[in-house]
Amino acid sequence: MPSASVQAFLTEVEQQLGASCLKTDPDLISTHLIDWRGRYQGRAPAVLFPGSTDQVAQVVRLAAKHRVGLVPQGGNTGLTGASVPDDSGDQVVISLTKLQAIRAVDAANKTMTLEAGVTLAKAQDEADALGLLFPLTLPSRGSATIGGNLATNCGGTAVLRYGNARALCLGLEVVTATGEIWSGLRGLRKDNTGYDLRDLFIGSEGTLGIITAAVLALSPKPAALMTALAKVPSVESAVGLLGLAQKKGAAQLTGFELMTKPALSLVSQYFPVLAQPIQGMGSADLVLLEISSPTGEVEAVGLLEDILSEAYESGLVQDALVAQSIQQAQTFWDIRDHITLASSEDGHQIKHDIGLPISCIPDFMVSMQKELEALLPGTRIINFGHLGDGNLHYNLACPINPNVWSDRNRRHEACKQFMQRLEEEAHHRVHNRVVSLGGSISAEHGLGVMRRDEAARYKGPVEMGLMRSIKTALDPLNILNPGKVVLV
Ligand code: FAD
Ligand code: MLT
Ligand code: ZN
Repeated sequence: MPSASVQAFLTEVEQQLGASCLKTDPDLISTHLIDWRGRYQGRAPAVLFPGSTDQVAQVVRLAAKHRVGLVPQGGNTGLTGASVPDDSGDQVVISLTKLQAIRAVDAANKTMTLEAGVTLAKAQDEADALGLLFPLTLPSRGSATIGGNLATNCGGTAVLRYGNARALCLGLEVVTATGEIWSGLRGLRKDNTGYDLRDLFIGSEGTLGIITAAVLALSPKPAALMTALAKVPSVESAVGLLGLAQKKGAAQLTGFELMTKPALSLVSQYFPVLAQPIQGMGSADLVLLEISSPTGEVEAVGLLEDILSEAYESGLVQDALVAQSIQQAQTFWDIRDHITLASSEDGHQIKHDIGLPISCIPDFMVSMQKELEALLPGTRIINFGHLGDGNLHYNLACPINPNVWSDRNRRHEACKQFMQRLEEEAHHRVHNRVVSLGGSISAEHGLGVMRRDEAARYKGPVEMGLMRSIKTALDPLNILNPGKVVLV
């Protein structure tokens, strides 16, 4: 049973917003209480679905009155357990998915103002219809929302050229923890009028305010995009290829993703149709390169071939396949985008989302692998990601046990046990090394609950103190996503 204050809160929400704004049936709300990976399972008596900014503000005012913790949720694709409630049964989920309006477009200013519940895929389509590009892109774009993208300051596969979510947002509308509405929907590229509130809310994972709308910055659409898969002999060569591609391609290099053998093997195993066009997929590390051109295909192909032939001559690349059509380019991206899905099908992994100075990556790989092989014999290092940004998903998968592997349930149980038993120790090992090299323990996914305590271990008392001060100043009652990012 939820506490009396939560019950009183829900009664008032129903009175003020109407019964259609809340769901309480356990069967109907169960998917909102567990994260995408199935790693964090919470409890809540209800999920609220406000339909406007004013309704969000009403909900927050009632939550403040009754001291009820609210968990903002968009597409629930987050990977750090930040979008689901804890297991107290006294937090309430507030879904922003009913906020669906495209409020304004300004093609000349290259901006689009839309509400928080619009999916990233829809935002991309809207920009496309204007003849422009909203370049943020993630494998989860079909479900992830603009509100969630900004609340996590997500990255994705085009950061190298266009920046992360923060760089693509010019203004915000936010419901504060007191239930007031901050209207900061400015479409300005320059605005030095005091503290940057927008930047404070971006990346705060729903702990400082609820984003209800945003002004997004759009870009001209490139005339052509060319994609290639390059077989590299080592991660060191992949880093060399990156340097070469940046030297020759400069800002025309829009994507540079690493996919190591074990990551590709998982895609081959669980999505064999995707592997068909690539001979022997999983037998070599691959880099996916994307080049854009403002003039056209001929220039893009020329540049890509120039990069690849020099890389081949200098031994950085052993072989390469340039996509011959948009469809083939899509198949290359499909392979990349299915690594997380294939991982999930395999079973739970110990996940890392590390950021490193690119120069340190080759040595990190070698030394980390040695350390982990000693600690976790047989573990598969599923390493892939945004090498161009120095951001890798350095995940550890359970050693294959032939006795249980073909049985999905038993395999998943083995993987779960592996994760639960070794997660903390593996995180410490990987993160200690990352931090010692000047890196980050969360390059793009955020802290949520998964990395909250790890972050506190590495940040000094000054940084932690400043973070707590910000949280208590903006959310003095600790009602917005309590327990996530930083404990107060
Ligand atoms: P949710 O998961 O619903 O919420 C995430 C956080 O944002 C929570 O803290 C939540 O409380 C808060 N929040 C949500 N909406 C609001 C709002 N309106 N106001 C305030 N707070 C809010 N991430 C990357 O960075 N790069 C990737 O390449 C990438 N690839 C992915 C691939 C897959 C297959 C999956 C499953 C996930 C991937 N992610 C990636 C993670 C995830 O998709 C992103 O973090 C995304 O931005 C989350 O959006 P969402 O709408 O699903 O947010
Ligand atoms: C990706 O780049 O595909 C993601 O951030 C998802 C993941 O880390 O699993
Ligand atoms: Zn990623």
